[in-house]
Amino acid sequence: MNFFDQWLERLRSRRDRLVADPRFQRWALKNPFTRPLARRGARAGLDLAAGFVYSQVLVACVQLKLLDALRDGPLGVDALAPRLALSEAATRRLLEAAASLNLIERRGGGYGLGLLGAAFAGNRAALMIVEHQPLLYADLTDPVALLRQEKRGRLADYWPYSDGDTPETLSAQQVAPYSAFMAATQPMVAQEALDAFDISRHRRVLDIGGGEGVFLTAAAARAPHLQLALFDLPAVAARAKVRLEEAGLLARTEIHGGDFLNDALPEGADVATLIRIVHDHDDASALKLLRNVRKALAPGATLLIIEGMSGVKGAEPLDAYYGFYTLAMGRGEPRRVEEIEALLRESGFGKFRLLRNALPMLASILVAEAV
Ligand SMILES: C[S@@+](CC[C@H](N)C(=O)[O-])C[C@H]1O[C@@H](n2cnc3c(N)ncnc32)[C@H](O)[C@@H]1O
Repeated sequence: MNFFDQWLERLRSRRDRLVADPRFQRWALKNPFTRPLARRGARAGLDLAAGFVYSQVLVACVQLKLLDALRDGPLGVDALAPRLALSEAATRRLLEAAASLNLIERRGGGYGLGLLGAAFAGNRAALMIVEHQPLLYADLTDPVALLRQEKRGRLADYWPYSDGDTPETLSAQQVAPYSAFMAATQPMVAQEALDAFDISRHRRVLDIGGGEGVFLTAAAARAPHLQLALFDLPAVAARAKVRLEEAGLLARTEIHGGDFLNDALPEGADVATLIRIVHDHDDASALKLLRNVRKALAPGATLLIIEGMSGVKGAEPLDAYYGFYTLAMGRGEPRRVEEIEALLRESGFGKFRLLRNALPMLASILVAEAV
């Protein structure tokens, strides 16, 4: 540490000691000049402590389809109670809780969708993510046990490839829940990526861990000449075949089933994509995957890493959310852009570019070139 850093650290330590002192906290709340700041701090503390309850209020609203019920306009407790199959008292309690979180708003003598409620109501993928959350919440009831790896998370069963040595043997039944969930949430990621990256300049795209082909379908719509290739576990590749056939894209697409860590990947693509894949892996298997991808690409080919990345402005809470999500899942971690670049460099990629995109909270897009 240089002199300036030492001085700054002393200052910060003094501040921390002061703010931790209950007498200072009382003084800051009484003093009219410091009161707004003290109140903001107290509110931030309450939000952190109560965040789990807020999330459960949201889950209840989504499970009971309250937001759907309000889509056509405000309704009162008497009209809502039978639709939610709750007593009037319970309905009122839920509505007041949701209104206090600005998820809905009190109006017209009843309750209507506010800005946040309307945004949720119109976003099927976001609603599916909320409905998926109770699995994670069950695992988080004892976060310390999870951190000490004293228990196996339920999410590990939901993502069966995350702790098995032979993921390529997973059955259709085992992959169905996560695969359908990924397919339902993929369109918003695809739109984000394809708005930031012009895929129409490419000839052939290979989507590795491409799920049911939802990204390829979106890419095909933007670039009618683009040839498509998908690689995923055999049971997922079979689901992709059905979906791509329904989309009328089978003639343009090559579908491969296998293990992307151990099997050779199809060659010939001038752009490859890894979407929501690298953060599922620890460093050793991420390196193995990236080296395998590099082998399939000619020098000069492009690789896109598309996933939520730590430290990117606008994606700050990701370390908490995805850090604990991957902990419960049993594998992987969110990484900083520099950390992904280091893995890519070791695997034979260079010329990195982080694209600007609208919603880094959803995904960032890192472009690399095979060197
Ligand atoms: C988190 S999902 C992402 C799917 C898709 N890219 C998306 O964003 O919707 C991870 C994908 O990687 C696939 N996968 C996991 N391990 C694999 C392996 N060893 N070989 C091939 N695919 C694998 C899974 O089947 C799944 O489709």
